[in-house]
Amino acid sequence: MRILFIGDIIGRPGRDVVAAELPDLREHLKLDFVIANAENAAGGFGTTRAVANDLFACGIDLLTSGNHWMDQREILTFINNEDRLLRPGNYPKGTPGRGSAIHQARDGRRILVINAMGRVFMDALDDPFAYVEAELAACPLGEGADAIVVDMHAEATSEKMAMGHFCDGRASLVVGTHSHVPTADAQILPHGTAYQTDAGACADFDSVIGMDKEEPLQRFTKKMSSGRMTPALGPATLCAVFVETDAKGLAARIEPVRIGGRLKPAMPQA
Ligand SMILES: [Fe+2]
Ligand SMILES: [Fe+2]
Repeated sequence: MRILFIGDIIGRPGRDVVAAELPDLREHLKLDFVIANAENAAGGFGTTRAVANDLFACGIDLLTSGNHWMDQREILTFINNEDRLLRPGNYPKGTPGRGSAIHQARDGRRILVINAMGRVFMDALDDPFAYVEAELAACPLGEGADAIVVDMHAEATSEKMAMGHFCDGRASLVVGTHSHVPTADAQILPHGTAYQTDAGACADFDSVIGMDKEEPLQRFTKKMSSGRMTPALGPATLCAVFVETDAKGLAARIEPVRIGGRLKPAMPQA
């Protein structure tokens, strides 16, 4: 199965680069399933029904999220009825939405996507490792699903890397989100799981992690907040991770994808 995981889409520039590039990318890489993190898709904060629909329409099959999943309160009106939109599954019981879903890829095979959130330098949540363990036990690779992708939304690289090893041999891909900066450590772990600490973001990189740099600089240098963070509005780079699985659902290859904007381009061979 050929899977693309797109990092956090940040505001209009992020959505624009995805809409412009994904149709060709789907064709070029013969993608069977496309996942994207949409926690910053609507003006940098959360996602709305209209934004989610636009992202599905440009070729994304499933959206994950993170700590910003509820920033647009209207998500509460549709998340329970939208099985293509996940929030981290280790929120307390009773929180609206779901943390995992099984879908059919274009080649007919089943893919399980699990969204979890770290706890280091983040809000206190249930144990993400126990949550992912329960999901993997309920739907093992090769039995319940032909491919398994884990979006580990976390601040600490260590916690993301630990999740990679925790799932090694049991998932097709473990990829981090939330940092908004693509890491250069794409690899296949010893037992066959593809791993990258952070997928990066679809954002204007003349910014502070996708946000217009004036406000964050002011906050860092003067300890003063003069307003709300807004996405930087220059041309965005699409950052993603491409994975091809083998017959067992483990990784045959993992390659970073970067298109447009300021970052150095990266494009896997078809
Ligand atoms: Fe984010
Ligand atoms: Fe986040």
